Amino acid sequence: MNTAHHSTAPAREAITHLEIEPSVLYFGTPVVLLTTENQDGSFNLAPISSAWALGQTVVIGLGLEGQTAYNLDSRPDLVINLPAPAQWPAVERLAPLTGRDPVPAGKPEGCRFEPDKFAAAGMTGVPSRLVRPPRVAGCPIQLEARAERVQPDARGDFLIVEALVRKVHADSRVVVPGTDHIDPAAWSPLIYNFRHYFGLGPELGHSYRTQTPRDRETPVAGPALAETAPN
Ligand SMILES: Cc1cc2nc3c(=O)[nH]c(=O)nc-3n(C[C@H](O)[C@H](O)[C@H](O)COP(=O)(O)O)c2cc1C
Repeated sequence: MNTAHHSTAPAREAITHLEIEPSVLYFGTPVVLLTTENQDGSFNLAPISSAWALGQTVVIGLGLEGQTAYNLDSRPDLVINLPAPAQWPAVERLAPLTGRDPVPAGKPEGCRFEPDKFAAAGMTGVPSRLVRPPRVAGCPIQLEARAERVQPDARGDFLIVEALVRKVHADSRVVVPGTDHIDPAAWSPLIYNFRHYFGLGPELGHSYRTQTPRDRETPVAGPALAETAPN
């Protein structure tokens, strides 16, 4: 018997890469809801997916014309609110809205001014501890932060914000009891994947540096908030 025919390696399939020109490159990043302070002391709320953490700094990419960019340029306090997957309809209700009046010419067709985005989304603000903009009540993780650096990107199309996180609020259901650790099996971000919303699939493995290793024999529970999180 020729064992070469019984290799355990997966069959090599012919994979073709196409050279394409997608209109967007949103390859799947968590959605955050930014609360910022308007000039008149009211608060704006905007969904953003260009956000990622480096230590205690969150780097955020903003369109130059939006109210959020306008606010952070002059009033640096913000809250970075992380919604759960079940909250995607509220996020999408915010999608065609801007806090900027009049609506900037560069905004997509159908975009309209909305001074009270909390009401429009069906969301509630709760006071923050260290910053003026409120937290979004239903979001399981809320990061109070201050924009330390706000500068245009290399092409002058966007604003790159480096926000230093000053206080973290976490729903007790996503915290490992008695610790400061987020339980990765209980928490799932809401992922924006080429303009479609997803939650996380089951765990595949973990980093050698994790402080919350799981017993491989224990079935992985779905994210605790997937079905229950309010908007
Ligand atoms: C899921 C989602 C992700 C978005 N990501 C970004 C982003 O990363 N940066 C950005 O400037 N706008 C992003 N937008 C668009 C803004 O939410 C939109 O321009 C909104 O009008 C901004 O509100 P504002 O003008 O009140 O700041 C996103 C919208 C949605 C629905």
